Amino acid sequence: MSGLRIDRRDHEVWLTLDRPEVRNAFDDGLIARLTEAARQLAPDPSVHVVVLQGAGPSFCAGADLAWMQRMRDYDRERNLADAKAAAGMFHALAELPMPVVARVQGAALGGGAGLLAVSDIVVAADDAQFGFTEARLGILPAVISPYVVRRIGITAARALFLGAHRIDAREAHRIGLVNEICPSADLDARVRARLDDLALGAPTAHVATKGVLNTLAMLPDDGLRTYTAAVLAEQRVSDEGQEGLRAFLEKRTPRWHPRHSGDA
Ligand code: COA
Repeated sequence: MSGLRIDRRDHEVWLTLDRPEVRNAFDDGLIARLTEAARQLAPDPSVHVVVLQGAGPSFCAGADLAWMQRMRDYDRERNLADAKAAAGMFHALAELPMPVVARVQGAALGGGAGLLAVSDIVVAADDAQFGFTEARLGILPAVISPYVVRRIGITAARALFLGAHRIDAREAHRIGLVNEICPSADLDARVRARLDDLALGAPTAHVATKGVLNTLAMLPDDGLRTYTAAVLAEQRVSDEGQEGLRAFLEKRTPRWHPRHSGDA
């Protein structure tokens, strides 16, 4: 099972994260598929828009924490290569020349919220939750940070990355992580309305516009991607990184939590 569904509807390509049993958390397999899909779509002028969505109750719960925990068994090189692959996935999506629309229900957390930062238009259900929860798991939002800062600015990113709290759709909309919110029953119609808007624009004008926007707000270069990947790779195999990931999987509080019972 690949974890990614790709559906073509005329000039639209719908990419559906399809691991609903783990709320579409991405592991190495899904990262590879999504990266490959983005790279194949990029040069195709017959694709006018890409829609990102998640199967099941949530859009995306970010990185697969069980997979991250397993990094402790990898050597340094493999750990770093995997972190770089994640950085490469966000970069490939951010570089897509055609508009990218995200359809969000349930939750978009950690790297799931990072996917919103590399999308152009984000439509979310008004009962969805968002956040960069990494610090509470002993890790950090590293490879997504350049895109998140481009999207919501450094001030909002500081508070959300360090607080690591969850925010509701209204707040996500206020800070610009989300462009539009609506009752969940209207989500499909709202996404369709945005796609209909886009269909009125010239595809080459969209490509040129994204080129200008990506020049104004530069995408992270290879050096920055390597740096953020290295920070992530190191933190996730650290004592606190491993403790946080284990605590999540064991459904308990990590040892730095004020109400930790001390049994771990
Ligand atoms: N990685 C791996 N597994 C995950 C996951 C993740 N990021 N997020 C959820 N899961 C798993 C859960 O462990 C659970 O597994 P189980 O069925 O074996 O118990 C399953 O997905 C369903 O999760 P659950 O919490 O019961 O679903 P929910 O619909 O009530 O809530 C979320 C969905 C996304 C709000 C909730 O799972 C959550 O908060 N996840 C943590 C997300 C996070 O902090 N991500 C940051 C990663 S950097």
